Amino acid sequence: MEAWVRVLLVVACLFPAMVECRVRHYKFNVVMRNTTRLCSSKPIVTVNGRFPGPTLYAREDDNVLVKVVNHVKYNVTIHWHGVRQLRTGWADGPAYITQCPIQPGQSYTYNFTITGQRGTLLYHAHILWLRATIHGGLVILPKRGIPYPFPKPDKEVVVILAEWWKSDTEAVISQAMKAGVAPNVSDAHTINGHPGPLSPCSSQGGGLKLQVDSGKTYLLRIINAALNEELFFKIAGHNLTVVEVDASYTKPFTIDTLLITPGQTTNVLLTADRKAGKYLIAASPFMDTPAVAVDNMTATATVHYSGTLTTSTTTLTKPTPQNATSVANKFINSLLSLNSKKYPAKVPLKIDHNLLFTVGLGVNPCSTCVNGSKVVADINNISFVMPTFALLQAHYFNISGVFTTDFPANPPITFNYSGNPPGTAPANMQTLNGTRLYKLPYNATVELVLQDTGIIAPENHPVHLHGFNFFQVGRGLGNFNPKKDPKKFNLVDPVERNTIGVPSGGWTAIRFTADNPGVWFLHCHLEVHTTWGLKMAFLVENGKGPNESIIPPPSDLPTC
Ligand code: C2O
Repeated sequence: MEAWVRVLLVVACLFPAMVECRVRHYKFNVVMRNTTRLCSSKPIVTVNGRFPGPTLYAREDDNVLVKVVNHVKYNVTIHWHGVRQLRTGWADGPAYITQCPIQPGQSYTYNFTITGQRGTLLYHAHILWLRATIHGGLVILPKRGIPYPFPKPDKEVVVILAEWWKSDTEAVISQAMKAGVAPNVSDAHTINGHPGPLSPCSSQGGGLKLQVDSGKTYLLRIINAALNEELFFKIAGHNLTVVEVDASYTKPFTIDTLLITPGQTTNVLLTADRKAGKYLIAASPFMDTPAVAVDNMTATATVHYSGTLTTSTTTLTKPTPQNATSVANKFINSLLSLNSKKYPAKVPLKIDHNLLFTVGLGVNPCSTCVNGSKVVADINNISFVMPTFALLQAHYFNISGVFTTDFPANPPITFNYSGNPPGTAPANMQTLNGTRLYKLPYNATVELVLQDTGIIAPENHPVHLHGFNFFQVGRGLGNFNPKKDPKKFNLVDPVERNTIGVPSGGWTAIRFTADNPGVWFLHCHLEVHTTWGLKMAFLVENGKGPNESIIPPPSDLPTC
């Protein structure tokens, strides 16, 4: 932005009532803090000493500036998960993809404008496993004077689900990587930082107590900030009306149990339609692959009606069974875009690039590992190798040797991907390594089918795409059939999101328009799978028009 335009904007924003523009300044000090959970205490990396971090509030069209100052021994970056970052990839945050990390003692100001989005998102560290404790809510309110497309709630509450390890999470993952095996699962789930009143150590933690008045309506902005687990969420004795996911409005529907994958957000209306009482809120894991271990602890909190004694008994709810695929599907199949006149679903109808990406695990030889081999993860048989220089910088400044643009549009070998019947997966589970990108011209339309593989075991993969929202046009079990399945696609009002669950042993088809130039990460939002290599990036070229190019990098952009 030209200097004089910025000055003009700042001056104009001194009178926010007169103009719609706003500049919001935040400061994030990344600091260590000692904290107690689950009968043990340990130092954690935090934003401003808080866990979860402070909620960041903005309005659609706001210019947000967040100065991040790194006071810890780790390299740090912050990602604004789901913010489109139109032409501002420099502010996106994934380490070595769009920026070099902020080194100890350094700072960097993320500068971005929120365009065409409103709802709940999250921010989190995007390097190592630091997002275990560096995360928080990002609430985008509609433009001033624009109402929600649903009844106005009496109150809004941010609800953040996460995972907690008793030991240091950086040690957990680095030991697992050395040994070539899966890292330990977490020791508990948390709601707003606490395992909740049913935890044996609840006296230390307290927990979320949602104080409600009978007859009133509450908007819960629920965020799954967990590292490795998809979570069910429910409230005893109450139904929830879903109105938005990933900062996109949905057709409202009422249900008793939500499924939220890491990286996803869900806004629900909770009507306090009981007279009095205390009701348990429960968050528990979903995993329909028996071979994969999960943390089976249920995090709890309470809805507390005013006038109810603290000593009165709480109405409990059974945790949803870990393998309740039907409960998960009921929720997923209910999701549709609002697709109103004001908020139309702009599904690409003519497709320029048809892509099929297999996502799953593999095994590579490793002489120093405990079994002589290590678990890896890949897309189209390529386990992504993190560069030591940021891809976006390499692209912008034309620095060669950092990446190649030969990421395959299809799996290199065709096989029975979903691995059913068992044993029909290819005998060779080894993957290739590479820092390969897939190049897209500006404004190209893309259909991407994400196909789970049964190599090792079929598993759910919540896949997140940076820089875009996409529409989920189809979903099914087994292998995607390019002749039959597209006939059943929903091209009218499919749900719009930024993170999508690929079903265990199945596929998900998404569509998006590559209207954002830059380098955009695509990865599984189960952090363990990202670490193992289940990631790649799209390179979207500049367009020819005036507002179709990446803006120049800010002067304080960190160097590697
Ligand atoms: Cu929320 Cu690349 O992640």
